[in-house]
Amino acid sequence: MYKLKHTLLDEIINAIANRGYIVLNNIIPDKLLTELTTRVKNLDSHTLKPAAIGRADSQQLNTAIRRDKINWLDNTNRTDKAFLQLMDALRTAINQSIYLGLFDYEAHYAVYQPGDFYKKHIDALKGKSNRVLSTVLYLNEQWQDKDAGELLLYSDDGKNIIETVTPHNGTMVIFLSEQFPHEVLAARKTRYSIAGWFRLNASSSKTIDPAV
Ligand code: OGA
Ligand code: MN
Repeated sequence: MYKLKHTLLDEIINAIANRGYIVLNNIIPDKLLTELTTRVKNLDSHTLKPAAIGRADSQQLNTAIRRDKINWLDNTNRTDKAFLQLMDALRTAINQSIYLGLFDYEAHYAVYQPGDFYKKHIDALKGKSNRVLSTVLYLNEQWQDKDAGELLLYSDDGKNIIETVTPHNGTMVIFLSEQFPHEVLAARKTRYSIAGWFRLNASSSKTIDPAV
């Protein structure tokens, strides 16, 4: 079972408490990262599905907002389980120090084909969702600046870009779900990631994301 170093946990917890987000390059052990990268590349096209967005029942409307295809991680897979266990250790550590009351964690693989995007959105509408903390882990070996596909993180009011994240292999961004509008720019090659959410104890949000 993989462990997270105390110094790393402290760094994450301090950043979340002080400014609401952090970008990390060293959280996932190399062996697990390799397994996750291999797994996402090998997900076959039948298991990857467009994600549902709340209220937007027409697929056409969905694809105007987001174009990625997703597959939920599942504890019966060894690799998924190792990642979910690592995130659960993070959940416990966060709860012990900043009392966010995180109850569980759900996560899906996401595949963006060249040209796919996710327009500016928030992962949790204030008071309307049980998503508290969002995570995105990138699984792209040899990603170059020319490949684009950056994640833009905006200030609370959505006016200023406060962080531009290149989706390099092993980079993980963690941010408060209600606080940061964000968007995924179109990439020039296939872009792989795992998006996840620490949640409060309430009904599942698995099938419905808040609409923008
Ligand atoms: C999401 C999301 C960001 C990214 O899935 O909600 O915002 O960089 N993903 O993939
Ligand atoms: Mn999002």
